[in-house]
Amino acid sequence: MRVSAIVVAAGSGARLGASISKAFVMIGGITLLARTLRTIGSVASIDEVVITVPAGMEPKAREEANAAGVSVPVKIVVGGAERQDSVRIALSFSSATAELVVIHDAARPFATPLMFESCIERAGAIGAAIVAIPLADTLKRVEQETIAATVSRAGLWQAQTPQAFRRQLLIEAHERAALEKITATDDADLVEQIGGRVAIVEGSPLNLKITTPEDLSLAEAIVASRSPR
Ligand code: CTP
Ligand code: MG
Repeated sequence: MRVSAIVVAAGSGARLGASISKAFVMIGGITLLARTLRTIGSVASIDEVVITVPAGMEPKAREEANAAGVSVPVKIVVGGAERQDSVRIALSFSSATAELVVIHDAARPFATPLMFESCIERAGAIGAAIVAIPLADTLKRVEQETIAATVSRAGLWQAQTPQAFRRQLLIEAHERAALEKITATDDADLVEQIGGRVAIVEGSPLNLKITTPEDLSLAEAIVASRSPR
């Protein structure tokens, strides 16, 4: 089965407050984007990569892809205003011969090859699969800075990326969303909204999304803990 990987890296990283767009921020000496590209480079079932970047960052992204040693074709395209727009644009550039697409946020530098492989495998079998983790904390509904209720966490999971889909299914989900002006924060939601079944692959809390400066410090600590002393 042919698989196209989409890496969304076109956000600005407003909450991080960095001077360059988030995907090009470094941890442990390499950019977030390069870390994801290295991982993707070691997933044998991926046949091409489409990367969305902010306008003007195409040459830098090309350098990163070359340095990461990605041996499959890499397309670099300018993303859209919102993440959903960037995915839709990337999808339109993904090869029509790909049966599956696997989407990943450049903001999650610690996804593993196994996460990609498991999602691809499950999506190949049932149509869609995402990495997620069961909630660990007790949940409180808060109103006016006091607790209104404790919410059961039974059955609640936090969605991460990678997320893999049959390409036609995801195209259909995005077309419907555009038509009906539906917005969602992940692709699985759009597929759910057209009745698609989405399997869960258990991820890891280490597959964190870099959003704030605190997340960046945490990511630096994770990298430091892994490097040989
Ligand atoms: N993304 C994208 N196109 C956009 C917005 C986001 O490709 N128009 C990508 C980001 O580059 C990131 C992922 O989607 O890899 C998840 O988005 P998020 O963590 O919100 O990143 P940013 O939008 O860059 O951050 P912020 O919301 O703080 O500006
Ligand atoms: Mg954002």
